[in-house]
Amino acid sequence: MKWWLLPLKNFKFGTLGVRDLMSFWTRKSRIVITCAKGVPPFLRQEILSLGFPVLSEGKAEVETEGTMEDTLRLNLLIRTGQRILFLLESFDAKTPDDLYKRISRVSWEDFIPEDSYFSVTSSVYNPTIKDSRFANVKCKDAVVDRIKEKRGRRPDTGPERDKVVIHLYWRSNLCQVFLDTSGEPLSRRGYRMIPLKAPMQETLAAAVVLATGWRGDRNFINPMCGSGTLAIEAALIALGRAPGLLRSNYGFMHMKGFDDSSWKVLRRKIRAEARDRLNGRILATDISQQAVEAGKKNALTAGVDRFIEFGVCDFPETPVPGGGGAIILNPEYGERLGEIEELNKTYRGIGDFFKKKCNGYTGYVFTGNLDLAKKVGLRTRRRIPFFNGPIECRLLEYDLYEGSQKRTFQN
Ligand SMILES: C[S@@+](CC[C@H](N)C(=O)[O-])C[C@H]1O[C@@H](n2cnc3c(N)ncnc32)[C@H](O)[C@@H]1O
Repeated sequence: MKWWLLPLKNFKFGTLGVRDLMSFWTRKSRIVITCAKGVPPFLRQEILSLGFPVLSEGKAEVETEGTMEDTLRLNLLIRTGQRILFLLESFDAKTPDDLYKRISRVSWEDFIPEDSYFSVTSSVYNPTIKDSRFANVKCKDAVVDRIKEKRGRRPDTGPERDKVVIHLYWRSNLCQVFLDTSGEPLSRRGYRMIPLKAPMQETLAAAVVLATGWRGDRNFINPMCGSGTLAIEAALIALGRAPGLLRSNYGFMHMKGFDDSSWKVLRRKIRAEARDRLNGRILATDISQQAVEAGKKNALTAGVDRFIEFGVCDFPETPVPGGGGAIILNPEYGERLGEIEELNKTYRGIGDFFKKKCNGYTGYVFTGNLDLAKKVGLRTRRRIPFFNGPIECRLLEYDLYEGSQKRTFQN
């Protein structure tokens, strides 16, 4: 987006000068992209392949740099990140009063419209703060008081994240204030109307597919597909479709100077870059008719229904076409004893299914229960750590060729 293209409707004389608007949208700053634990190596790769530098990599975030304009592209294209945070200010603050004073100095009136709405989220580890909600209130008060003083009106505030979102990161004395340009987390792609039981988050599913290395040239088979998240993310990846195109609302759209016409041009350009055919097939099956119906509806909403062949069956009955590719199962992990006994059989069955029907494929099991995973009984080639919420999981990779079938319990 170019500053000289900013529409006049967003330009208010006497409030915000062209130069201020220009510098807000074109000033380079640090951008932190948050993600689930285990995901940073895949997020890092995505950032680099989009031509952005990687400044640092943490347990659940990767840091890059760019302008507010760049966050539009990042929000549309990043598959594995949760939130794109644009750094506004960084300062030392020891107490809540320091926080208030420093936040009041930021010229919020330059980028938050006085007639709009904003919310504050935070990640706080400061000895003077027992409840992070207190830090949020201090931050909110500072922003509201500043805008009221400068503009004579104040924006509304509340917990909804569907408009402007400010994110506060406070560790010891270091305080960083970000704009959460995503607003709602990016995992809310907008296609999963019917999530059903134990669905995998969309951003995690994308990271899992990227971890398999599958890119659409061969087959992608997903027995136990549940609501279809892995198959849908696989289709989006193989077609080069930007996941962000499925959503119409982002935090940055509610900032002053947001240029809707340039945003539409960018969306059209990115949409035109997608492919419209796949070489391999994508098959998704589940024993539950209800799950398959949900998967079909979700795929339709995501616009990839014609690329996924859904079917209802017990997993060993899943058709496995010749040509090889990736075959991935995300079975339940189980909690109660009865369930675990039943699941022992299921995991053993997965090993048999891999051996009998999946020659020439690379097999994957995504699970949060490593004891159960041992029951698959095949040698793993890779064990990639992920987290599904708080549960530590593994994506286990098996090479399924003649002779790979030796049973081993060294998972
Ligand atoms: C953890 S869920 C998969 C969630 C999925 N990844 C998603 O994002 O929605 C496990 C799925 O396995 C299915 N399932 C359980 N036993 C099965 C079997 N024997 N054959 C086929 N599917 C089975 C369940 O119906 C459930 O939908």
